[in-house]
Amino acid sequence: MFGYDMVLPMNTGAEGVETALKLARKWGYEKKKIPKDEAIIVSCCGCFHGRTLAAISMSCDNEATRGFGPLLPGHLKVDFGDSVALEKIFQENGDRVAGFLFEPIQGEAGVIIPPDGYLKSVRNLCSKYNVLMIADEIQSGLARSGKMLACDWEEVRPDVVILGKALGGGVIPVSAVLADKDVMLCIQPGEHGSTFGGNPLASAVAVASLDVIRDEKLAERSAQMGEELRNLLVNIQQKFPNYIKEVRGRGLFSAVELNSKHLLPISAYDICLKLKERGVLAKPTHDTIIRLTPPLSMSLDELQEGVNALHEVLELDLPQMQKTKPQNISSVAPTICDRCGRNLYGSPNEDI
Ligand SMILES: Cc1ncc(COP(=O)(O)O)c(C=O)c1O
Repeated sequence: MFGYDMVLPMNTGAEGVETALKLARKWGYEKKKIPKDEAIIVSCCGCFHGRTLAAISMSCDNEATRGFGPLLPGHLKVDFGDSVALEKIFQENGDRVAGFLFEPIQGEAGVIIPPDGYLKSVRNLCSKYNVLMIADEIQSGLARSGKMLACDWEEVRPDVVILGKALGGGVIPVSAVLADKDVMLCIQPGEHGSTFGGNPLASAVAVASLDVIRDEKLAERSAQMGEELRNLLVNIQQKFPNYIKEVRGRGLFSAVELNSKHLLPISAYDICLKLKERGVLAKPTHDTIIRLTPPLSMSLDELQEGVNALHEVLELDLPQMQKTKPQNISSVAPTICDRCGRNLYGSPNEDI
């Protein structure tokens, strides 16, 4: 289905990431001849790859990393979407870089879509410097973004793809790492695995969910419904321009970025709680972003219903909440990354 020689099944998404990182290191030593214990993985600022030690070692999320150090060595960070900075890192450390791990669309960071041409540049740079291009498609893949893989938006083929989440059809933990033989066979039997990785039930569920995604043309459906969703959300934005700063997304992978200056002391979390009361489950990311990842099988009427709920929250609930919620400065403090010192997600003072 994806055109790779081999698949290594695991259980959770984070385990899939761990597997890909181990694979990259092993490939780095065996094929690229990186000196022993000197392999480097490059990952992006603002990324999210799960909660295991290797995955949080890539993270800029203070809540995920504080109190869990020391983090894994052999790791460098680069701004997401910045291919010039990526090339600089490759130029300076290229001989030791085994892999570039990235999300083609950053999910937890708030559905951040890279500039056009970025994925192609990443592909070219990874080929030029002999670095494995490792796409974490755990959230962006399997039709979520309106294509089977988000990398398909620029028709690039990563060396390693990590799948999870929807692969289990929402009922069973199952993840998978895809690669060709020259990469995958760097790990030999006995060198990596998990008791339940690739168990028959999970494998059957994974195959069934892939069949459904293909047979019900969910990628096309996600692309069309995503357009509808964003049109509806933009209508709301036009009605509440003070509250909504941006509507963005690809397929049914969308986000509404709120303008916290006008929202204070209300956060995206408070809005999501109100949405829940009105029948919609949505996930806040940071203080100001609401991530919307509705089921790919949702009908147009249900989509409209969900958007109406947001309209009602902004029109009816928000003014009420603003009157009653006490000001709590710490809940809207800017998020300064412990590692790079950057204000990753914007502060209320920056909103215009
Ligand atoms: C891009 C990405 N990678 C990895 C993970 C971790 O997956 P899991 O929670 O199944 O370990 C997530 C989970 O949200 C994710 O969004």
